[in-house]
Amino acid sequence: MQENVKWIDFDTMEKFMIDVFKGIGVPEEDAKICADVLIWADKRGIDSHGSNRLKPIYYDRIKDGIQFPVTNFEIVKEGPTTAVVDGHHGMGMVIGRRSMEMAIEKAKKYGMGMVAVRNSTHYGAAGYYADMAAKAGMIGITGTNARPSIAPTFGVENMLGTNPLTFGMPTDEDFPFLLDCATSITQRGKIEVYAKLGKKMPEGWVIDENGDYQTDPDKVLGDLVKGTAALTPLGGAGEELGGYKGYGYATVVEILSAALQGGSYLKMLTGFKDGKKVPYCLGHFFIAIDVSAFIELDEFKKTTGNILRELRSSKKAKGHDRIYTAGEKEYETWLYRKDKGVPVNLETLKEIIAVRDELGLEGYDF
Ligand SMILES: NC(=O)c1ccc[n+]([C@@H]2O[C@H](COP(=O)([O-])OP(=O)(O)OC[C@H]3O[C@@H](n4cnc5c(N)ncnc54)[C@H](O)[C@@H]3O)[C@@H](O)[C@H]2O)c1
Repeated sequence: MQENVKWIDFDTMEKFMIDVFKGIGVPEEDAKICADVLIWADKRGIDSHGSNRLKPIYYDRIKDGIQFPVTNFEIVKEGPTTAVVDGHHGMGMVIGRRSMEMAIEKAKKYGMGMVAVRNSTHYGAAGYYADMAAKAGMIGITGTNARPSIAPTFGVENMLGTNPLTFGMPTDEDFPFLLDCATSITQRGKIEVYAKLGKKMPEGWVIDENGDYQTDPDKVLGDLVKGTAALTPLGGAGEELGGYKGYGYATVVEILSAALQGGSYLKMLTGFKDGKKVPYCLGHFFIAIDVSAFIELDEFKKTTGNILRELRSSKKAKGHDRIYTAGEKEYETWLYRKDKGVPVNLETLKEIIAVRDELGLEGYDF
C-alpha cells in the first residue's frame, strides 16, 4: 500500500506528533508517550495504527470533548499481582503504557502481573504493550475492546469490537515473536486506509444486513456507524471456515476488557448517546509473565527461536518460497523504512497539514 505517498522521516514525524499532542493540551511527558505509540506502528508498517490516526482518532476526539488530554490514572483496587485502573477518559496510550509498566513491575516481584482498565480511550496498536513486556524478558499479553464491529456467527448485527488479542515473547533472534492482530478478518483502521487510497476491499471482510459481502470502504465505514454493516470474525461468516473461533476469541477479549474492571461492553461502546458523541469508555487488560520465574530466560529464548526457525524452514506451499512467523514482517519493514521514514498517503498528508495550520505549528514543511 505505498503508492501516492510522501515519505516523512521518523524524527520529524515524531516531533510533529508531540507538538500536536502538546498543542491540544496533552502534558509534554504524556505527549511523548502518545507519539511513541504511533511512531512504533509507523516504523513497523502497521499503517492502520500510526500517524494516520493522529487527527481522526486523537486530535478530533479531544476537540469533540469525548476524551481528555490530561490523564487521571486512578488505581481503584490493587493487590500484589493485580490492579484495576480507571482511566477517566484520558489518553489511552498513556493509560496503556502505565498499566503495562505496572504489570511488568508486579511480574518482576511475584512472577506474574495483570492490570485491568476501565473508562479508557483508544490505545493504538496493542503490540506496543506486548513488546514492552517482551523487551523486559517477559511474555506480554494484552487486549482491548472497541466500537461494535464484528457480527457473531449466524448474526449480521455489529456487536463486538475488533478486539485484538496480542502476545509478545522474547526470542534469541533480532525481533520478538509478536502476534498482534484483531479477532476480525480486518479492522477499521485498514478499511480507513483502503478508503484513503480509493481501493475496493476483498470480499469476505464485511457483511451487510442481508449477510451479503460489501467491498466499498467509504460506504462500509458509514454503515458500521449506522449499524447496517458488520465485520466478519477471524475465519469469516458462518461455520464452514471456523468463523465461530474468531467470534469466540473476540468474546474472550470483550469479557476480559469489561467484566473484571466493572467496565462497559458491546453496544455501550458506540460513542453515541441520544444522537450525541460521548466517550467510548473502553476497557483493556495487560498481563506480564516473568519467564525467569519458570526457566532461565536464555533457555526460553532459544527454545522459542528454535520453534520459529523450524516453522519457517518447513516445506513451502506451491507458489511460495518463504514462511513467516509473527513479528517478522514488521521487523523487515523496519529495516526497509529506517532510513526512509513514514510513507504518508495523500489524504493523511492533507489531514496533518490542516492540523499543523490550525495549531499554527512552524518548521514543518510537509
Ligand atoms: N486499539 C484497537 O482498538 C485495535 C483494534 C483492532 C486492531 N488493532 C491493531 O491493529 C493492528 C493491525 O491489526 P490487524 O488485525 O490488521 O493485523 P494483520 O492482519 O495485519 O496481522 C498482523 C499480525 O500477523 C502477523 N503476520 C502477518 N502475515 C503473516 C504471515 N504470512 N505469517 C505469519 N504471521 C504473519 C504479523 O507479524 C502480525 O503479528 C494491530 O497492531 C492491532 O493491535 C487495534
